[in-house]
Amino acid sequence: MTFYEAVGGEETFTRLVRRFYEGVAEDPLLRPMYPEEDLGPAEERLRLFFIQYWGGPRTYNEQRGHPRLRMRHFPFRIGAVERDLWLKHMRVAVDSLELHEALERQLWEYMVMAAHSMVNVPEEV
Ligand code: HEM
Repeated sequence: MTFYEAVGGEETFTRLVRRFYEGVAEDPLLRPMYPEEDLGPAEERLRLFFIQYWGGPRTYNEQRGHPRLRMRHFPFRIGAVERDLWLKHMRVAVDSLELHEALERQLWEYMVMAAHSMVNVPEEV
């Protein structure tokens, strides 16, 4: 069984990103970073990316090509502050899923690793 199936498939990732973007929508620092007025398309891209990453359908690649996420984030200034805000909203979203502990830990460890890898400005001193 894939991780995607173990956590409940598409529905779980739909809930995850919906909750995450509810947080982003209210965030005075992160919200203005999103180029489009409508967060819906960004939500859909993140949803499809996670579904693919965790072993579900590969629709993300069909629509967007290879993820190359670090490259796609270069237009945005992501320092420790932005990273930690992203993780704050993701923590709320992950908690809302009420997954079994081992699955939740795996999901969260990935989020922490991925968010740290997206930082593209030097450490603030
Ligand atoms: C796109 C911000 C971390 C996955 C974006 C966009 C912004 C953004 C502003 C453009 C929105 C759009 O698609 O229209 C940030 C910030 C982060 C962060 C501030 C802080 C660390 C991450 C992480 C992941 C991720 C950790 C994955 C684990 C994505 C994906 C897209 C995206 C899949 C759409 C890429 C595409 O197909 O164009 N992000 N992001 N982001 N982000 Fe992030």
